[in-house]
Amino acid sequence: MPTRAAKPCRMMFVWSFGGAVLGALTAVFGRTGIYVCTAAVERTVHRHLVEQIAFLDEADPPLSKIVRDILVEEDAHLAHAEARHNPNGLFARSLGALVSGATEALIFLSTRGDSLSLKGAMAAR
Ligand SMILES: [Fe+2]
Repeated sequence: MPTRAAKPCRMMFVWSFGGAVLGALTAVFGRTGIYVCTAAVERTVHRHLVEQIAFLDEADPPLSKIVRDILVEEDAHLAHAEARHNPNGLFARSLGALVSGATEALIFLSTRGDSLSLKGAMAAR
């Protein structure tokens, strides 16, 4: 980050606080709730990383490689969570949609709307 003069996300405190709140709320539903929440967050982050990689492949290949490495790690988290609950059940789909929406909102706020522009640009390709 220092070599690129990049700054840490200004929303990190919201991610930390929101993650703790989301984890506590979904833990009320037991193991299944925790895995549904984890899978929903990972799936949403996965989509965001894939869009970033598509953009960075042309704009900044070395950074694209770094994000790809992060994606591999995140894929493992997603596979772990998805293997431990039924993602097609009504509970998983309902709670997963809520968690995905909250995660998308945080990504939108963290990127000050750039995530939506990137999604549109990648879809238009
Ligand atoms: Fe993760």
